[in-house]
Amino acid sequence: CGIVGYIGEQNSKEILLRGLEKLEYRGYDSAGIALLNGNGVHVFKEKGRIADLREVVNPDVEAPVGIGHTRWATHGAPSRVNAHPHQSASGRFTLVHNGVIENYAILKRDYLENVELKSDTDTEVIVQLVEKFVNNGLDVEEAFRQTLTLLKGSYAIALIDAENKDVIYVAKNKSPLLVGLGDGFNVVASDAMAMLQVTNQYVELMDKEMVIVTKDSVTIKKLDGNIIDRDPYTAELDASDIEKGTYPHYMLKEIDEQPLVMRRIIQKYQDGTGALTVDPEIVNAVLEADRLYIIACGTSYHAGLVGKQLLETWTKIPVEVHVASEFSYNMPLLSEKPLFIFISQSGETADSRAVLVQTKEMGYKALTITNVPGSTLSREADYTLLLHAGPEIAVASTKAYTAQIAVLAILATVTAKAKGIELDFDLVKELGIIANVMEMLCDAKEEMETIAHEYLATTRNCFFIGRAVDFYVGLEGALKLKEISYIQAEGFAGGELKHGTIALIEEGTPVIALATQEHVNLSIRGNVKEVVARGANPCIISMRGLETEEDRYVIPAVHPMLTPLVSVVPLQLIAYYAALHRGCDVDKPRNLAKSVTVE
Ligand code: G6P
Ligand code: GLU
Repeated sequence: CGIVGYIGEQNSKEILLRGLEKLEYRGYDSAGIALLNGNGVHVFKEKGRIADLREVVNPDVEAPVGIGHTRWATHGAPSRVNAHPHQSASGRFTLVHNGVIENYAILKRDYLENVELKSDTDTEVIVQLVEKFVNNGLDVEEAFRQTLTLLKGSYAIALIDAENKDVIYVAKNKSPLLVGLGDGFNVVASDAMAMLQVTNQYVELMDKEMVIVTKDSVTIKKLDGNIIDRDPYTAELDASDIEKGTYPHYMLKEIDEQPLVMRRIIQKYQDGTGALTVDPEIVNAVLEADRLYIIACGTSYHAGLVGKQLLETWTKIPVEVHVASEFSYNMPLLSEKPLFIFISQSGETADSRAVLVQTKEMGYKALTITNVPGSTLSREADYTLLLHAGPEIAVASTKAYTAQIAVLAILATVTAKAKGIELDFDLVKELGIIANVMEMLCDAKEEMETIAHEYLATTRNCFFIGRAVDFYVGLEGALKLKEISYIQAEGFAGGELKHGTIALIEEGTPVIALATQEHVNLSIRGNVKEVVARGANPCIISMRGLETEEDRYVIPAVHPMLTPLVSVVPLQLIAYYAALHRGCDVDKPRNLAKSVTVE
């Protein structure tokens, strides 16, 4: 779900389509554009990718104004009819929307009784409401404002009026949206990357703001009509970072970048003397807390689980890790002095942001650990730690996961030091070793491909087991596999298997077991025996020093607390090759989006 808009003098079509291609990572089940020129509005939409949309766009239409959308359906199946833009009954107003209108059914009942909706989306009521209010005599801006005051939920909106070629009406609440400034034109986009092709000057928008965009002016207003002055900032993104070069897939490129990212993180967090350092304000915030609450979703949540282990062991501060979507309505009893740590690759995930808004209202401080400087979660938290992983494009997260763990490790060691706790290792050296080991693992692609074919070519399901931190890595390995290969994969704590899950083991069921932890090495191997006795096909991935003859792959030894940074790499590669072998779309798996900006 992402939107773009252009108003200026050039032909907007290609700018919009290219912008949408950059936003495709947010959702790609259908897409559309609306072009506005002297002959009126021309809408093109299609189910599927931007590439599919390109097929249906009339090459002859040129227009200096346009809006576009790539969808991740929340209400109504992905189809041409439900794809945006949506139009009002008379066709005068055309709109794209990212987000969810929670009260759409009530609005329809109360205001649109006589209007026949064309789609199953929550979105369509917005554009119908604008027309209804205009028909009632309001001017367009006032009708738009009136409509916005009625909406409950999240939105990034761009609206055009067939009777006025000079304006795009824009609004934002909860869903990300920026206005980009150009010479003789202006643009809107869900993120800066989308419009980097035409400008690097952006104005950020706050919740419940509307904007009147013309080709040479941008007027931001609060919903009460007050005008807001806000300076633009320069988006510092390198467009070349987001090309995949000679790689067949972004995912493979990003897996391979992990050693480089480790080295970059070390560098970025070193002071002049080579010691690791973190902004003292952040360290103080951690020291002042009596408990840390890590909030995240998906892969970032899995990194949080590993982070908890590192932070608790090294800093002796208690840590809880929560899935954001649960936390927001099912909040646990909080400690007296909590610090909230949001882990989010994109910094845009709506579920995480909902918790940030909530905890800020409660008066608590927040630290965001993200890959995207200037992202919503970064802007709105008190502090930010960056991952420096470079843009991650593949939907399945790889280098961001390892970067998150590395940054959490740095935060933990620096905090421990500030607290006077002696640690008997040098993290710079350990992360250096990890970068080297990652490189060796990335070189073992053929072996991983063989494993993927051998175990996963035709299987219906696959289990990952591990104990201690290996359990957490197993969860991530399972998530990778299910995301991109659609194999039903689950991660389990080795000892918990016998309490239910073992019932699922059949003749030949692949069980990938991680054995990187000395203190549980015998017990995880016992668990492997249990599943083998019931017919499982085991694939043990262990660490040098703990290996036995039955192991399928042995990872060179690294610091025992940091094994997730390396043990996840074979799992990422195995998932990649399994998906490839099954003919799946590795970078853009079905039903998913890279960053989910709806709650
Ligand atoms: C989406 C992605 C996942 C990702 C999760 C959290 O569901 O498909 O790969 O882990 O969001 O994203 P974040 O950007 O907050 O880390
Ligand atoms: N809720 C809207 C829909 O399902 C917008 C989804 C999106 O943000 O892509 O059409």
